[in-house]
Amino acid sequence: MNIDGTHYRSIWRDAGGIVQVIDQRWLPHELRVVPLKSLQDFADAIRDMWVRGAPLIGATATYGIAVQMAADPSDESLDHGWDVLHDTRPTAINLRWALDEMRGLLRQIAPDRRAEVAFARAASIADEDVEINRAIGRHGLEIIREIAAAKPEGEPVRVLTHCNAGWLATVDWGTATSPIYHAVEAGIPVHVYVDETRPRNQGAQLTSWELNRHGVSHELIVDNAGGHLMQHGEVDVVIVGTDRTTAQGDVCNKIGTYLKALAAKANGVPFYVALPSPTIDWTVRDGLREIPIEERGGTEVTHVQGRDADGRTVTIQVAPDGTTARNPAFDVTPAALVTGLITERGVVAPSELSSMFPERAKI
Ligand code: MRU
Repeated sequence: MNIDGTHYRSIWRDAGGIVQVIDQRWLPHELRVVPLKSLQDFADAIRDMWVRGAPLIGATATYGIAVQMAADPSDESLDHGWDVLHDTRPTAINLRWALDEMRGLLRQIAPDRRAEVAFARAASIADEDVEINRAIGRHGLEIIREIAAAKPEGEPVRVLTHCNAGWLATVDWGTATSPIYHAVEAGIPVHVYVDETRPRNQGAQLTSWELNRHGVSHELIVDNAGGHLMQHGEVDVVIVGTDRTTAQGDVCNKIGTYLKALAAKANGVPFYVALPSPTIDWTVRDGLREIPIEERGGTEVTHVQGRDADGRTVTIQVAPDGTTARNPAFDVTPAALVTGLITERGVVAPSELSSMFPERAKI
């Protein structure tokens, strides 16, 4: 999408073949682009959330494998790359999907051609992500169009979203934001309520920045405001992303998503999940018990990052000295709370997900 009129992707190879990413730790106040040159750079970038969001984590890992193949194309090196990258973040299934895809392909290739093939496949996975998200946007647009048609002429469709499931979380378009960007392009008035999404504030720092730079009407709300707005009829639809969704339609996403789904159900607000197929985990039966929920450091809870009066990005402590904090980063929203899954093949009820992807569901 655009930053002040210039089109960007979240990850790309420059003219010299170096992989570049937007270092999202510095947004929204500084746009820093950093090169990733070694397997360790890629692992650090994923673990420490220079890049984040399930699809982008997967895309980054594919380039990490390619860089590793350029350094050492042996089988041992391939397995080592898989292990190092897989250990970075446990919840988003796109990481495992991407790593399996790369290893499965590269094992069939002679070592002297592995780097070339790996870079080509990484590039095609990035392009596929863009096309998947574009298709999600087209299908999600119809949901927004239908809501708009039932409202008085010119009144905006009010969408609530959680975390950042925007283009920064993918290669381009975003998942949850893609229907929004498509609606704006189609001339449908849309207003987005952006959950701040503590503790890392991906909503406040990333979604707000994206929407702002692309010129989409929005307001930032604290995480606790969504239920109130829904009770008062101020939200027409909730659209969120997902880090892993089971074949049964249970949705794992950023912590706090479940509470929004409960509030939506209680208030009759439709709750949609934008779901690219690489985010489906066909192997898990019980989403609540089997999906590993990442526990992150307590300082993400006790401290916050922002800009000080001198314009510097700083971290400050908000809790008393010595406070210990619990920090589960994701939760699981049961399928019963989900109105529909917006996939690249169309919108489907959670119970029908397998029939939408019969070739994968057999695995
Ligand atoms: O911890 P993060 O920032 O990687 O979490 C991201 C999310 O939870 C997103 O909503 C999810 O990955 C969907 S991204 C299109």
